[in-house]
Amino acid sequence: MKNGKPGFRIHRYTVETPKVETEVRLAVVSDLHGCPYGERQGRLLAAIGREKADVILMPGDMYDDRDSDEPFWDFMRGAAALAPCFYVTGNHEYGRCLEGVTPRSRAETERLKEKVRTLGIAVLEGEKILLPAGGGKIAIMGIDDPFGGRRRISDQYLRCCRQVRPQEYTVLLSHRPERMGGYRYFPGDMVICGHAHGGQWRLPGLKGGVYAPGQGLFPKHAGGLYRRGSGQLLVSCGLCYRYPKLPRFGNPPEIVILRLVPAEKGKRQEKGDWREKGKRQKKGCRALKIQKETGK
Ligand SMILES: [Fe+2]
Repeated sequence: MKNGKPGFRIHRYTVETPKVETEVRLAVVSDLHGCPYGERQGRLLAAIGREKADVILMPGDMYDDRDSDEPFWDFMRGAAALAPCFYVTGNHEYGRCLEGVTPRSRAETERLKEKVRTLGIAVLEGEKILLPAGGGKIAIMGIDDPFGGRRRISDQYLRCCRQVRPQEYTVLLSHRPERMGGYRYFPGDMVICGHAHGGQWRLPGLKGGVYAPGQGLFPKHAGGLYRRGSGQLLVSCGLCYRYPKLPRFGNPPEIVILRLVPAEKGKRQEKGDWREKGKRQKKGCRALKIQKETGK
């Protein structure tokens, strides 16, 4: 909080890849849970506008039924006017977790997705969309949260895997980072998740936070950029500042800006799992976490 107003930071990452010809800026906005940031989400939208994002990616839990849904719609309308937007569901789009997911809440979620689509936002369910940015070789894919039905989600995931092309920089949006075991074998370049809220508490000497849903105490993938098989995993710490029993500490809400920049000609992207191949690959990781900046 700053002057009584909820604050957030811009968290920047840069990844070099030979698959883009010009720089592409991806804004990742996750786990808003309908929290307001200024009148009609003005502070949040202004910050994204200043970053000149080519695309806005939303990996779930933007909506929350525990409060007014107006801040959610304010953000979605504003974001759709700023840049092409891509959205997948999180667990909270399927209603209150404690009440369980029912056929009724699934039907309500389908209605929510339809309404989001009328704003011109792509709600992904296993599709692939090619972006015109960066030389036309960036593919965005996405899958629903498992609360949408496990069989359905695994069908969506397999459909995404089959559509990966090695010449395209491929991003998969999927809400939950605890499914890292499966993502390790995703043949695309980047998996982008939310859900973990940065591990709620960030303490000195403790890298990954204290607790994340689905990962429990001392989560491995609570917020940051990680190696993942032959690609990477990016987990946003999200923008929620209410509701959890464990309030955030040392872990400000964030918007992530992921810059994809052309790699020098002749440089190869790394392949293989560094955990299997040891420090040589870990050292060679060219993903640079370059800058943290406090937002307004
Ligand atoms: Fe979540």
